[in-house]
Amino acid sequence: MIAWTIVQIAVLIWAIRMLWKYYAVSGGNKFGLPEPPGPYGLPVIGYIPFLGSKAHLTFAKLSQKYGDIFQVQLGSQKVVVLNSLDVIKEAHIKDASFAGRPSSASIEIFLKETTTNFSLRTGDARWKFLRKISIKALSMFASSRNSRLEAVVDEANEELHAELQALNGQPTDPQQNIFDGVAGVSGTIMFGLDFSNKDSLLKPVVSLGQKLSTFLAVGSVLDSLPFGPWIMRHQVKDFSESIRPVVQIVDKHIKEHLVHCKEEDDVRDIADAVALAAKQTPADLKQQLGLTDDQIRSIANELFGGGFTTITESFRWAINLLTAFPEIQERARRELAEVCGDRPLRLTDRSNIPYNEAVHLEIFRYSSLTALGLPHSTMDDTTLRGFFIPKGTTIFSNYFAHHYNPQYFPDPDSFKPDRFLTADGKLDADKAQLVVPFGVGKRRCVGENLARQELSLFIGRLLQQFEIRQDPSNPVNIRDVLPGLNRGPIQTPLIFNKIVL
Ligand code: HEM
Repeated sequence: MIAWTIVQIAVLIWAIRMLWKYYAVSGGNKFGLPEPPGPYGLPVIGYIPFLGSKAHLTFAKLSQKYGDIFQVQLGSQKVVVLNSLDVIKEAHIKDASFAGRPSSASIEIFLKETTTNFSLRTGDARWKFLRKISIKALSMFASSRNSRLEAVVDEANEELHAELQALNGQPTDPQQNIFDGVAGVSGTIMFGLDFSNKDSLLKPVVSLGQKLSTFLAVGSVLDSLPFGPWIMRHQVKDFSESIRPVVQIVDKHIKEHLVHCKEEDDVRDIADAVALAAKQTPADLKQQLGLTDDQIRSIANELFGGGFTTITESFRWAINLLTAFPEIQERARRELAEVCGDRPLRLTDRSNIPYNEAVHLEIFRYSSLTALGLPHSTMDDTTLRGFFIPKGTTIFSNYFAHHYNPQYFPDPDSFKPDRFLTADGKLDADKAQLVVPFGVGKRRCVGENLARQELSLFIGRLLQQFEIRQDPSNPVNIRDVLPGLNRGPIQTPLIFNKIVL
């Protein structure tokens, strides 16, 4: 009896496999093309049990067998994974169908709880309009020709450096100090907050980044199983409760800007810029896009959210890596001293410090913070590399796999800034282009310039002031990362020795 049941199950599995294969290769679609290949999973849950906590690594391994483009079934979600820069560019730069965002449970809950209107919204006319406003608002700070960002980072650094100096070389976990410094900058450029006021913004934001990263993680039960939101109801409640105070407090800051801003000359910060954009948008366009003034203004909220954790985590990666490789730290500091002397680094110096720029590129590559980017979704039936991809398919771009591809980055597990320099010590522009931490194409990160400049000032000025060493009893860990959508670094206590000039 048992043997008979086993035979029946085996035949059933075989039949399902054959049907799936038949459907995939015979082309049940208008293009007559197969869907991308991929591994089989279990009934109902698909490939979820084999994904592990680091999906980018599992996907990188699968790509060795199935190629640059393959698909996996994660519960009820069909996911296509793109594993090389060429195929990622082909999809995101050339084909507008890939500019959507999935309507997964986690994203739906996030959209419901926040005033988010474009970063996790599908690529429609409203998204396009809000993205344009964001880019214009951000350009106010992120331009190497104006020094507004420098002045704000100067102020943050004053506090950060004083806190580190006061430790007198005692090992410390710098996470909170970095968090405060980045929050000071974000609070000022987004909402014009006085630095002494930043705590009102900070408290509710603490730990939200990691929660968000876990909440949106690939292959979560929440997104993949039909009753996911019910099974995960406690986590959903916890997430919603931690996000609400942040939304409220940020809304409060945005509202304070409404009264102030009447014309371009009144613009002091991003919240002003978006408040003005809301005022200047013709009523019929707002109606056509289904947008209220509140929704336009809440861009400031989104930019704050999008930039805060990513910059904090990248800064922490930078400090950890520079501590793990003291000779690289020393060489970067020497170059800063040669170019800047005793004065603080300026953004206009960046073209004269190729080694420091190479170090930053290698930090972005090695950390690959957003290993799988943000999820995209196809807005129409489309094709890629001879495969059919139906409308509504979730797309992940494995930036980690690209950044660790030995064809582009020989010996990828080693931290080697020199890989971005030419034989005569200049920055190799072609190699620099290959590092894509901000994504590519139509949904590429809008905060890229701001992030690059802010990090450059934070890291460069820290190196000018401090020698960073590891605590011998607690060595730096650059191999492991926190689980979740972001590859968050593990923080160990570090020693900050003030350099006496
Ligand atoms: C080191 C820092 C940062 C990294 C590594 C990073 C990375 C990314 C990535 C990979 C994406 C997804 C691109 C895609 O979907 O294809 C993205 C999107 C986005 N980022 Fe960033 N980002 C950073 C900083 C910032 C900053 C400072 C801001 C705001 C001031 C920001 C705002 C956004 C927004 C609004 C989007 C959504 C764009 C859209 O959907 O059209 N990011 N970022």
